[in-house]
Amino acid sequence: MSIDYQERIPNNVNLADDRRLQRALEKWQPGYQQWWAELGPTESASTDVYLRTAVSVDPGGWANYGYVRMPEYRWGIFLSPPEQGRQVNFGAHKGKPAWQEVPGEYRAELRRLIVTQGDTEPASVEQQRHLGLTCPSLYDLRNLFQVNVEEGRHLWAMVYLLHAHFGRDGREEAEAMLERHSGDPDKPRILHAFNEATPDWLSFFMFTFFTDRDGKYQLASLAESGLDPLSRTCRFMLTEEAHHMFVGETGVQRVVQRACELMKEHRTDDVRRYGAIDLPTIQRYLNFHFSVSVDLFGQELSTNAANYFTMGLKGRFRETRIEDDHLLENGTYQVPEIRGDKVVFTEQSALTAVNERLRDDYIRDCQRGVDKWNRTIRDAGIDFELILPHRAFHRGIGTFADIKATPDGRIITEAEWDHHHADWLPTEDDKAHVVSLMKAVTEPGKMASWIAPPAKGINGQPREFEYVRFN
Ligand SMILES: [Fe+2]
Ligand SMILES: [Fe+2]
Repeated sequence: MSIDYQERIPNNVNLADDRRLQRALEKWQPGYQQWWAELGPTESASTDVYLRTAVSVDPGGWANYGYVRMPEYRWGIFLSPPEQGRQVNFGAHKGKPAWQEVPGEYRAELRRLIVTQGDTEPASVEQQRHLGLTCPSLYDLRNLFQVNVEEGRHLWAMVYLLHAHFGRDGREEAEAMLERHSGDPDKPRILHAFNEATPDWLSFFMFTFFTDRDGKYQLASLAESGLDPLSRTCRFMLTEEAHHMFVGETGVQRVVQRACELMKEHRTDDVRRYGAIDLPTIQRYLNFHFSVSVDLFGQELSTNAANYFTMGLKGRFRETRIEDDHLLENGTYQVPEIRGDKVVFTEQSALTAVNERLRDDYIRDCQRGVDKWNRTIRDAGIDFELILPHRAFHRGIGTFADIKATPDGRIITEAEWDHHHADWLPTEDDKAHVVSLMKAVTEPGKMASWIAPPAKGINGQPREFEYVRFN
């Protein structure tokens, strides 16, 4: 399924055959471009960036690398190929053919799911817009821009669904996507984590590791949807999302590696004086970003989530590979709750616990990345371990929202929290130090003092390749 780049909006959905839809999207396009100019990456307009662009959605054949002038990036609409005979694979409609149109009775729920997902995409571009000014290398700058253009495309993906399947309401929702802004006191983005600032590159790497990974799990459960166009859209988005998490995982790994190199070289834990970020500070950033990201999975027990499941709209992670009845009428699942000052797990209805199950899948995946970072520390012969905090730590949503807990999950008093939280979350001093290191390094192949070079370049290019050209 190749993509037609002759069209004003590149696409593989035969947009030209649906003139009304095409016109509606072409009407939305200038607003998008204006949004990108105003709230997309600062000063990117005069750069040529070595970007990956989708040319086909076929496995292995879709990536094309070349220099692109940023505002001329061709955002478009790409869906994964249809699967012959696909069915609704879970819930009350299990076994029926997958829907090609939105079922009237589920319109409101589907719109809400698509809007909530869509809103996160431009939000992250807004959050990251100033980072280009302080890039640690051209390689990293290129990766930032790659992430940004793809998040922009993910907005296109969701806006396409709104325009194609939700009529006038959909068009209004598509407009509203460009009216809400990250951190705007009057019109904020929908989800809390997407209104947080991303003021520095350590935050950016943590964000792409932890928060983009939430995106992966949300998209993966929407990819199971009985609504086939939603499933196909999300399946293609997931292939792009993988790169964002690569940027996060390797980014943090390189910061850790640099700290370890300096610790060994100077036989000290205090690597701040050598222009690096010390491991305890990295741990505090990790604690913060993990805790705001686990909130994105919502309440432990959720009737909304149960309804979405029963309706066949949003499944579990890799739904079809799970061996059960996919109805969850009788199944149970272990869910945490507070008993006294302890967190205990009790059996709850698997149906109302689908959020919690997704959160568990997510946490396991996060742990794999943290293990890799710890391997870097161990390989350097340093006695330190990065730890993923307990899910009870620093939560704003769900069972743990009203209590205070240590990173290892012990419930504590407000007074204890006040006394210790500076050990667990980034302090003003940590932030000031990290921000003080953020100075642009734009000579090909050079790296900022606080980060190790990448293991290899992009698309087989050398590390000193000119990934971004300034005009
Ligand atoms: Fe995305
Ligand atoms: Fe992403």
